[in-house]
Amino acid sequence: MNIAQVDYDGLIPNNVALGQDVRVKRALEKWHPGYLDWWNDMGPEGFQESLVYLRTAISVDPKGWAKFDYVRMPEYRWGVLIAPQMEGRKVNFGMHKGEDAWQEVPGEYRAMLRRLVVIQGDTEPASVEQQRFLGKTAPSLYDMRNLFQVNVEEGRHLWAMVYLLQKYFGTDGREEAEALLQRRSGDPDTPRMLGAFNEKTPDWLSFFMFTFFTDRDGKMQLEALAQSGFDPLSRTCRFMLTEEAHHMFVGETGVTRVIQRTCEAMKGAGISDPYEIDKVRKLGVIDLPTIQKKANLHFSLTLDLFGNEISTNAANAFHAGLKGRYREDRLKDDHQLESGTYPVLRLVDGKVKNEDTPALSALNMRLRDDYVADCNNGVGRWNKVIEQIGIPFQMKLPHVAFHRHIGEFSRTNADVDGNILSPAEWTKRRTDFLPSAADKDFIESLMQPQFEPAKFAGWIAPPKVGIDNKPGDFEYVKIA
Ligand SMILES: [Fe+2]
Ligand SMILES: [Fe+2]
Repeated sequence: MNIAQVDYDGLIPNNVALGQDVRVKRALEKWHPGYLDWWNDMGPEGFQESLVYLRTAISVDPKGWAKFDYVRMPEYRWGVLIAPQMEGRKVNFGMHKGEDAWQEVPGEYRAMLRRLVVIQGDTEPASVEQQRFLGKTAPSLYDMRNLFQVNVEEGRHLWAMVYLLQKYFGTDGREEAEALLQRRSGDPDTPRMLGAFNEKTPDWLSFFMFTFFTDRDGKMQLEALAQSGFDPLSRTCRFMLTEEAHHMFVGETGVTRVIQRTCEAMKGAGISDPYEIDKVRKLGVIDLPTIQKKANLHFSLTLDLFGNEISTNAANAFHAGLKGRYREDRLKDDHQLESGTYPVLRLVDGKVKNEDTPALSALNMRLRDDYVADCNNGVGRWNKVIEQIGIPFQMKLPHVAFHRHIGEFSRTNADVDGNILSPAEWTKRRTDFLPSAADKDFIESLMQPQFEPAKFAGWIAPPKVGIDNKPGDFEYVKIA
């Protein structure tokens, strides 16, 4: 079978020859009803019967891998798709560098590898759970469709990780696959594994910030896992990245459209001072300082996902050839990092300082640096919009020490410029940096649904082009 073609005949669309793999096929078929129960319970609330114009992966050929059509979400064809095998692929880094890439799990790394898969897998359903109430306040059918597209694809990413667990990790894999359906975002007894995935996504600005910042962490993690010497993981992540690009698009254009609408409304009303917050809010748009506070919140929560700056786990995973650096294959060094150093921002005697650290222990820091650079590119594009409309304001990422709960800076309070604050100062100034209860109430007051084709809520600009080149009045969701 040509890998680019997907077998659509069975219950589970796939390009992994599931038809010839009776054991794994049965295991997945057994897992499937529990997945559907989870989707019906925890997926988009109130729209499960609606027809949504969604893309479905039908191939892994980069030139044409998806088709668009109206689908009821519970009938979406979630499947197992992996990128084509690369002839002669090797382990590209760590102590096994140069050996043939592994097609089976190396026994000595089984536990480490399983943990990597489970942690990645856990984030996928978590974000669906976090976003499940947003459909009801969608600012347009276009945005609603994008939300649901992201949601079904996160569901498919769960399938991708569950396939690896069922295929390569025997009984433990099966148990982990079950547990992925049991945990719940924000549940005090059975929370999701990582902090940012237990936070609320209460409004659409949060959703756009989440897809901009937190899905971008997902992208970085997938990029690092796509380098894995364990070939099935690499191939799985490579195809997930194709889908992830749309999630980045939703986040980046979403925030851009909010900013654009605010700036245009200010200009129209002759307001040039972005800090005239009450006046701006009276226009029914979100003032730029509040958008900045939302960015501060989501950026800082997402940085925590990179873990401790200095990490033995990260060193071990790299050394073993399981998780590489961002675009490892394009880096020019020995890919083993036994000697070199890497500068790590640390808290030394109450001051934020760079310290050279063995490169192997600093891999989380390095991935986080690559992430911050990627975020900054997006923020630059937001600022172009503000500049073009002519409002004197710049969006800016806060300092990495700001509002942290994991790593070096979790022991201190820093402002958005990285100055260390006393606990009293922090308490006093917290709402200068992060959304206050009043900010949240204001944003919530704007979250009125707009379900008419071609119409958009007043706080967000329409997109430049439609999805799948559809015209502006296209009915992206037929609400049932
Ligand atoms: Fe995902
Ligand atoms: Fe995503």
